[in-house]
Amino acid sequence: MRTVETIAEARQAVGQARAEGKTIGFVPTMGAFHAGHLALMRKARRECGFVVVSVFVNPTQFGPCDDFERYPRDLKADAEMAKAEGMDLVFAPSAAELYPEGFETYVEVGKLGQILEGASRPGHFRGVATVVAKLFGIVSPDRAYFGMKDYQQFKLIQEMVRDLDFAVEIVPCATVREPDGLAMSSRNTYLSKDERAAAAVLRRALKLAQERVRAGERDAEALRMEMRRLIESEPLARVDYVAVVDPETLEAVERVGDSVVIALAARFGNTRLIDNTLIQVGR
Ligand code: PAJ
Repeated sequence: MRTVETIAEARQAVGQARAEGKTIGFVPTMGAFHAGHLALMRKARRECGFVVVSVFVNPTQFGPCDDFERYPRDLKADAEMAKAEGMDLVFAPSAAELYPEGFETYVEVGKLGQILEGASRPGHFRGVATVVAKLFGIVSPDRAYFGMKDYQQFKLIQEMVRDLDFAVEIVPCATVREPDGLAMSSRNTYLSKDERAAAAVLRRALKLAQERVRAGERDAEALRMEMRRLIESEPLARVDYVAVVDPETLEAVERVGDSVVIALAARFGNTRLIDNTLIQVGR
């Protein structure tokens, strides 16, 4: 496995693999790998001939009050894990490599990028879409792997690929969780012991919604209130949003139809965590 830092080297390595007739798989990440990232890599490894992992803490998707500076970075450990997963190439560019002086062009996202996470973090999805478009331009993958943990990001990238005609298939991957149900996240390392224990309430709220829907509840507002009450019963949790939304548009629904996505965001101390689940009624 090689680790490269320049666009030219990445292009060259991918070009060679493509010339050998290999399918190119791509796993974009911000590093600080955990089992969720590794699951994406494993799926890509199974399905593609040559797999590229990018490690880049993308400044354009962080707001001025976000955690860009303190975001965990450990390229050496990441490269070792990528190697153990049988990755072919780690692309770890500097910010100056991807955003040189004079960089002016951004992807303008639509409605999908303005709601939920987009409303809480203005500009976030513009930065995500821009860097993913750039990485697609560099890696030109046949398949790119995205986690359902960031369901809105997955839908937004799907929409961008459709609207801007990228020749890449976006492959969703199930959320990997800790034993108590907390979704794996690089940000979990920020949590104190007590916050870490409290954070499991997010998964319990999703479970509660699943149970209530299974029991016949169809009123989205009732679901939202029950989940909010549960999360707020945890003194260390501060709810950002609790949403019951259409899986395609991510707009709030009043009634639960064939399928809904429950999306949650809450703060535990200074750490903001998100989680979600897709509920398919009758399944
Ligand atoms: P990052 O948070 O590092 O996540 C990289 C990929 O791993 C994303 O597709 C994310 O959804 C997936 N992932 C994270 N936690 C997961 C979990 N517990 N189970 C399964 N998959 C999980 O998402 C980003 O980076 C960035 O926004 C990026 C797309 C790289 C653009 O900068």
